[in-house]
Amino acid sequence: MSQDLRIVELDVDDPTAVDAAYTIGNEAIAADLPDLPPVCRYEHDVRIRLPMPGADRHTFLAYRGEEPVGLLQVDLPVHDNLDKAILELLVLKQHRRQGVGRALYRHAVDFGLARGRTSVMGFSVITDRDGAPVGSAAPFAAAIGHENKLLDVRRRFDLSTADDAELDRLLAESWPKAAGYTTVQWGNLPPEDLIEDLALLDSSFLDEAPNGELDYEPEKIDADRLRRASEVRAQYGARRYETGVIHEATGQLVAWTAMRVAKTIDWHAWQLVTLVHPEHRGHRLGMITKAVNLRTLRAQEPAVQMIDTFNAEVNAHMIAINEAMGFRAVDRWANWQASVA
Ligand SMILES: CC(C)(COP(=O)(O)OP(=O)(O)OC[C@H]1O[C@@H](n2cnc3c(N)ncnc32)[C@H](O)[C@@H]1OP(=O)(O)O)[C@@H](O)C(=O)NCCC(=O)NCCS
Repeated sequence: MSQDLRIVELDVDDPTAVDAAYTIGNEAIAADLPDLPPVCRYEHDVRIRLPMPGADRHTFLAYRGEEPVGLLQVDLPVHDNLDKAILELLVLKQHRRQGVGRALYRHAVDFGLARGRTSVMGFSVITDRDGAPVGSAAPFAAAIGHENKLLDVRRRFDLSTADDAELDRLLAESWPKAAGYTTVQWGNLPPEDLIEDLALLDSSFLDEAPNGELDYEPEKIDADRLRRASEVRAQYGARRYETGVIHEATGQLVAWTAMRVAKTIDWHAWQLVTLVHPEHRGHRLGMITKAVNLRTLRAQEPAVQMIDTFNAEVNAHMIAINEAMGFRAVDRWANWQASVA
């Protein structure tokens, strides 16, 4: 079936290959998740030459004859999780069930094993919010021996349903519990005087957020690593909105949240990380950072209509905050992992 399949590493200087990677990425996503925004073309073109510094990224295309039919991205973390290979694997809809996915997966495993990576991971949608199957990842994962180690739920905030009075009320109710704390905001680059604290919060994130059965070391993020990541990310053209909370008595940054809007997709934002330092929980800092950040985003990005976010299904505190703000469950996603040693 797959005799005529060729898998080649993408040449960033070949515009046809760069174009194919963009098209396959978008078409495969649109086939299963039509409500998600397309990949920003500007970001795709920059990122393919300048990937995020925390991982060694390799991109491969699968060709049937001259036609590109599948895409594989392999990320090999370079600071921690040195036994992991994180995959993204996409096959054009009309070429599915012909062994392309399996061949790309085999290629990824061999590529990773040759570099000491014995644990393979992936992330994909599996069902809608009610449990009806979405996409082919679940049967495919079963076929290649992967297990779902952590269930995530995507929630979406449709801003046409936003209740500003309710958001004001949530903030008014929260601030009295947060005496002695104050907010600070920044964009693509974190302020230098907060970067040490931010790195500390960032590296604690995986330790603090529910991680299910997933075998993934907390990332060791220091100020230098964070600075470099922020500088690279800034070149992708997205606009970031970040809000932190300072504990006035110590001057320490103790909470943080971030959202991003891609350069060429003005109607959609991603709600990213939110984290409150364990010693400062119980002061509604999660709600405050998110609600204040949302207000800023809405003021600066009037075209944004939809905001998407992921949470582990068991992350009850974060989900309660999101639901109170107006986020609603859309679909369920699996964090796949398998040992290939
Ligand atoms: C998942 C995906 C990569 C599979 O690609 P593919 O080329 O169709 O996979 P293969 O043809 O190699 O399928 C291998 C096996 O997986 C199983 N499988 C794959 N899709 C299936 C489906 N829709 N229903 C039932 N079983 C399926 C089968 O056991 C299949 O073997 P078989 O055809 O001999 O029965 C593709 O559907 C896709 O791009 N989906 C969107 C992105 C995604 O979910 N990626 C995976 C997570 S990173």
